[in-house]
Amino acid sequence: MRSILILNSKGGCGKTTLATNLAGYFASKGRRVVLADCDPQQSSLDWLAARSGDRPPITGVAAWRDGLKPPRDTDWLIIDSPAAIRGAELADLVKRADSVLIPLLPSPIDVRAATHFLGELSAVRKAIDKGVRVATVANRMREHTVAAAGLEDYLSRFSLPNGKPFPFLAALRATQNYVLAAERGLSIFEFAPARTLPDREQWVRILRWLSRSGAPGKAPQRPE
Ligand SMILES: Nc1ncnc2c1ncn2[C@@H]1O[C@H](COP(=O)(O)OP(=O)(O)O)[C@@H](O)[C@H]1O
Ligand SMILES: [Mg+2]
Repeated sequence: MRSILILNSKGGCGKTTLATNLAGYFASKGRRVVLADCDPQQSSLDWLAARSGDRPPITGVAAWRDGLKPPRDTDWLIIDSPAAIRGAELADLVKRADSVLIPLLPSPIDVRAATHFLGELSAVRKAIDKGVRVATVANRMREHTVAAAGLEDYLSRFSLPNGKPFPFLAALRATQNYVLAAERGLSIFEFAPARTLPDREQWVRILRWLSRSGAPGKAPQRPE
């Protein structure tokens, strides 16, 4: 089983969007997916409730209430987390993950907040002595803005408290496609193929990174 934790102490940056799109993607590829919602607002489970029964199945777990015990035959465990998560609660979730994805909005305030959060996360990883890969995904990028064109440059100016560079993986544009797909309990990989093509292309790096993440030191694999 591979496990992906979606984290950021800020609300509204795209945690549930990343979690549900990954769940839909892996399910559409025939994988056994558990979507564990650690947020009592249960947006991931609401998304799942909107999903029609003839779609590839995803098992939802109300982890904030029932804890996190995925069935043994799970291929991908995807953990959606609440905002303002810190301390012991953060450590408990990081222990369950082999990859951590951090969505962030590409504004100076949010990038700075993410830098602090990444510092906190690296202290947690050290404390629990666990090899966990961490990457950030800029979300809700507006097209044709200077910020979008220069984001990678901009982020390279930030370093983490431990001196390491900002772990930037990919950028996703702002588009109603996410909203429209979510209304139906779908990922963009299962919705309006022509419309979502530019969005699916933006996910290639994320999917490639995830397919590598369970096998440290091994040659990169193609995305599933
Ligand atoms: N790339 C995007 N483009 C357009 N809307 C988005 C995008 N990502 C997220 N949203 C919308 O922004 C809102 C907050 O996203 P959400 O994933 O619920 O954040 P979080 O779980 O971190 O609170 C939701 O209404 C969601 O549909
Ligand atoms: Mg959420």
